[in-house]
Amino acid sequence: MLKIGIVIGSVRQGRNAEAVSKYVHDYAVKRGDAEYELVDLADYNLPLLGSKYAAADAEAQIKAWSDKMASFDGYIFVTPEYNHAVGGALKNALDYLNPELNNKAAGFVGYGSLGGTRAHENMRLILGELQVADVRTAVTFSLMTDFENMSVFKPAEYHNANIDTMLDQLLAWSGALKTVRS
Ligand SMILES: Cc1cc2nc3c(=O)[nH]c(=O)nc-3n(C[C@H](O)[C@H](O)[C@H](O)COP(=O)(O)O)c2cc1C
Repeated sequence: MLKIGIVIGSVRQGRNAEAVSKYVHDYAVKRGDAEYELVDLADYNLPLLGSKYAAADAEAQIKAWSDKMASFDGYIFVTPEYNHAVGGALKNALDYLNPELNNKAAGFVGYGSLGGTRAHENMRLILGELQVADVRTAVTFSLMTDFENMSVFKPAEYHNANIDTMLDQLLAWSGALKTVRS
């Protein structure tokens, strides 16, 4: 079975990312067509790349992050939009990686005033450099209509069709690219 990592792309305290990621994870697991695993950026205390202000265990944290991401065939990046781009924590975490992601596939789930779409387009630029094939269909939750008070996640059901399409595309490309790596 293909292994798909679902990356919780915000470490902000009080983040919406967790509820959105868990929803997508639970939905995907019910399909039973791949091994889906949540990967929480907040579990890795990654320093800013190259910073001298790194925790004593920074090398171990960086290695754990690298090993975890290397273990997947494909990814779902669940990302908010910060100032019309992907958040700094996820960008910094991606900057630690390169061969771990090469010739793999990715799909996006976002949320924001416009569903996180500008963060997704930003991610496509970044992942192009990392040789990741990102699928067309993205899941875009609205802060206004899929959340109560912009903080309690109550997704409209119609998004599920998009989750299915995104996952179908992601599994097809993840499987195809496995042959390129072997
Ligand atoms: C620094 C910052 C910048 C933001 N910029 C945008 C933005 O450009 N577009 C948007 O739709 N939402 C923006 N938001 C609102 C976020 O989409 C919203 O707070 C979301 O819940 C953040 O994700 P998180 O709770 O998982 O951290 C911004 C929020 C922050 C904290």
